[in-house]
Amino acid sequence: MKPQENKTGLPLVHLGVTRPEELTPLFADLRGRFDDECACAHDESGWKRFRDSWLGRKSGVLTQITENWLKPATPELKRFVGHHLNELRAHVESQIEARRMAIESGVEAAALARERVDLSLPGVIHPIGSHHLIRQVLQELEDIFFSIGFSIVEGPEIETPYYNFEALNIPEFHPVRDDMDTFYLDLPKGASTPLLLRTHTSPMQIRTMERQKPPVRVIVPGKVYRRDNPDATHSFMFHQVEGLAVDTDITFCDFTGTIEYFVKQFFGAGVKTRFRPSYFPFTEPSVEFDVSCIFCGGSGAAAGGGVCSKCKGAGWIELFGAGMVDPAVYGFVNYDPNRVSGFAFGMGIDRLAMLKYGIDDIQVFFQNDVRFLSQFP
Ligand code: FA5
Repeated sequence: MKPQENKTGLPLVHLGVTRPEELTPLFADLRGRFDDECACAHDESGWKRFRDSWLGRKSGVLTQITENWLKPATPELKRFVGHHLNELRAHVESQIEARRMAIESGVEAAALARERVDLSLPGVIHPIGSHHLIRQVLQELEDIFFSIGFSIVEGPEIETPYYNFEALNIPEFHPVRDDMDTFYLDLPKGASTPLLLRTHTSPMQIRTMERQKPPVRVIVPGKVYRRDNPDATHSFMFHQVEGLAVDTDITFCDFTGTIEYFVKQFFGAGVKTRFRPSYFPFTEPSVEFDVSCIFCGGSGAAAGGGVCSKCKGAGWIELFGAGMVDPAVYGFVNYDPNRVSGFAFGMGIDRLAMLKYGIDDIQVFFQNDVRFLSQFP
């Protein structure tokens, strides 16, 4: 602390000041000290400390002068002390306010400089993604079926054997179960029923018919799982769209007409279609549905000579399984098989996408290589 700093804590007599002219240097010192300190207050918190040390009600310098110099001053000195004190107060108050404004505008200016937007800088380019090709194909399929009166439902990927097999007329030990090597869940001992990852979307035929009475017209897009070894046309997880239409007067003609309409919408009017007899326990009769090979135009011959590698010379490519709903299935959902009839189909979406876009390996759908994905914006 400078020697003069504590002078305001002592009465004037203790400082040896008894005559008015001795007050002038005393107040001049104080003013000089104030100006020095004022120049050092650079930020808001420094300014507050500085203001309180001079204007604080209890122990600010001006209060000390009032208490220690003015009040006990002799009548002769009092008038002069009051005069000097008023001058000093006016200076102190105006300078402290001026300092506050300078600090505030400085802070503001710095903040403005920090936040200023430079409109001449190039923008930040965020790459915009697109839907995966499988999602695009699903969307296209949904639009086609939606346009002819089908609605879209979804179902669980974890199923019970009842919905995945039994209610679809596939009892335990039926040989067709061998075609669908299945992922069963590892459940705690004592679990009431085994659970599995659904091997097809057909369980949703049952769940839908359980929930609603005919007429039924739904498609069911979703993921399915099979213990298939991965190769160019097989994946252990793939996508299917199930279709189901049940009403009192649905015939095989409605079935073929619907499927042909879909195929022509999806692949173009030029493709030819055919049905081949097949077998599924939940449809009777059952068919496999083929389209003329879109790579060789159905000729079976490759452009450069030899056989077409996609259809292996057959001129046809198998698309999906389908059929008229087996009456036995109606028994599981309390439909009267003598009153209702319908058809169902189950398409592999990944293979449809491969065919339509000329992709020769199903695995590329799941490798997330942006160079592949970005070809389908
Ligand atoms: C079924 O899954 C029957 N649920 C389809 C069905 C529904 C028939 C309704 C009758 C009535 P399938 O096992 O054939 O059928 O499989 C249907 C389609 O899924 C196949 O045509 C094929 O396109 C696709 N698929 C089958 N296994 C795989 C696999 N591992 N990877 C990719 N796609 C597959």
